[in-house]
Amino acid sequence: MVNIAVFVSGGGSNLQSLIDDKQIKDNIKLVVSNKEAAYGLVRAKDNNIATLVSKDFGEILDVLKGYSIDLVVLAGYLAIIPQHFVDAYPNKIINIHPALLPSFGGKGYYGMNVHKAVYEQGCKVSGPTVHFVTGGVDKGPIILQRSVDISSCGSPEEIQTKVLVLEHQLLPEAVKLYCNHKLRIENNRVEII
Ligand code: GRF
Repeated sequence: MVNIAVFVSGGGSNLQSLIDDKQIKDNIKLVVSNKEAAYGLVRAKDNNIATLVSKDFGEILDVLKGYSIDLVVLAGYLAIIPQHFVDAYPNKIINIHPALLPSFGGKGYYGMNVHKAVYEQGCKVSGPTVHFVTGGVDKGPIILQRSVDISSCGSPEEIQTKVLVLEHQLLPEAVKLYCNHKLRIENNRVEII
């Protein structure tokens, strides 16, 4: 059993997609947030999942150890993970980003900022990326990506809607691949075995 902690900062729709997946739900032992008001915490409580609100990564690490957490999933988590935390969970932290990295990633590219930049650039496709977190912002070996035609979208909000549908498919898919030991990393590339 792979014990999972999910980190959220906002609505938690990606967390919900994990809770709704029967193969994943019971693995989720803890939801962590840096924001007391994050609705993702409500989703956790509604499903009897333990929660922690903290910005102290030392404290967070201690609590993760207490729950024997094996995998950390960043699902709409907006705080930057310090390197000592990343080092404590080598290739055991997964993040979902709402664009096709490395495009539209890095400092300042989060939430609607991403879709605004994609829209202003006139991109014809966009889509989510799920990747391992190995340090830096939106860096790390890419696990899965999926693209969608956005050429008919008339606003960043329309792009967000299309991309979010794919996020809710891709994140559970990536988590199950991890839990079933189907991911191998070689030379910064992820191979699905
Ligand atoms: C999602 O678009 C995710 O890709 C990004 O933040 C947003 C959060 O959505 N990292 P939610 O909180 O999971 O609904």
